[in-house]
Amino acid sequence: MSFPVTRLRRLRRSGAMRGLVRETALRREELVQPLFAVEGAGIREPIAAMPGQFRFSVDRLAEECKEIADCGVPAVLLFGVPNHKDARGSGADAADGIAQRAHAAIKKHAPNLLAIADVCLCEYTDHGHCGLVENERVLNDETLPRLASAALSLARAGADIIAPSDMMDGRVGAIRAGLDGHGFAETPILSYAAKFASAWFGPFREAAGSAPAFGDRRSYQMDPPNRREALREMRLDLEEGADMLMVKPALAYLDVLAEARRSFDVPLAAYQVSGEYAMLRAAAAQGWLDGERAVWESLIGIKRAGADLIISYFAKEWAQKLR
Ligand code: PBG
Ligand code: ZN
Repeated sequence: MSFPVTRLRRLRRSGAMRGLVRETALRREELVQPLFAVEGAGIREPIAAMPGQFRFSVDRLAEECKEIADCGVPAVLLFGVPNHKDARGSGADAADGIAQRAHAAIKKHAPNLLAIADVCLCEYTDHGHCGLVENERVLNDETLPRLASAALSLARAGADIIAPSDMMDGRVGAIRAGLDGHGFAETPILSYAAKFASAWFGPFREAAGSAPAFGDRRSYQMDPPNRREALREMRLDLEEGADMLMVKPALAYLDVLAEARRSFDVPLAAYQVSGEYAMLRAAAAQGWLDGERAVWESLIGIKRAGADLIISYFAKEWAQKLR
């Protein structure tokens, strides 16, 4: 007596056979490395809650981008961390802002690398919220022109893809109109469409100095229990002109990703966020987890759930391993 499943399982003990029938693979070509740009020169400053990740001044960022491209990672997602913050988030759309200068440097020093611009106000506002604020309330509609202006200035600086992460309603439409009206009709939008109000963004807020000074982001980011609502947000963003959609964080929202894969035919991104990275790194450093296997399993799980591209702080490291 022999059972078909057992027969296959035995055959898969051989690496060649395992490879032959594998359903999912991880490719360097679908990884995106997030990066933080800070003011100054010669800076490569470790981020405490994200061991192995750094804040780079523009000169060092350009070097890092060359290395990332050499590893075979096709794209970076760029965050600017300015020295000066104010109520309007003036730095977000300044022609010589930190993110704008970083984009220009990437285009100059690593011209083959795709530069994705994260568009939001929270790194630039003194209150740390993703939109304009009045009486401790975030003003949705008033924020839209600010975001459209930030997106346009980043496109002008050389960003290849615009990725709004603020979660204001109507921002994809406003940004699309702004780009179309100023000669950037061919710049695609990767919308952070299903972005949940998550504890897993904690280390990022340390890295970007963008923790809200009061309240939280629950009035504009999504409620973790809601999958149907996430799909609705994604549909609306597509109607407003999004070219690609993102689910964020990844691990705790793989069902949303899988459902989005069945529902939409556009490229889907998943963001393995700062806290997911910190969690894996910390457990591996303690020797509590086999870090390499755990990271691989989490990345392949994101892929299996339906992601076309994976934004991950492990991107550079994994591209080297996949080589
Ligand atoms: C800004 C933004 C955040 C992240 C990406 N863009 C932080 C937030 O919304 O609080 C999180 C990324 C990460 O945790 O790695 N809106
Ligand atoms: Zn934000």
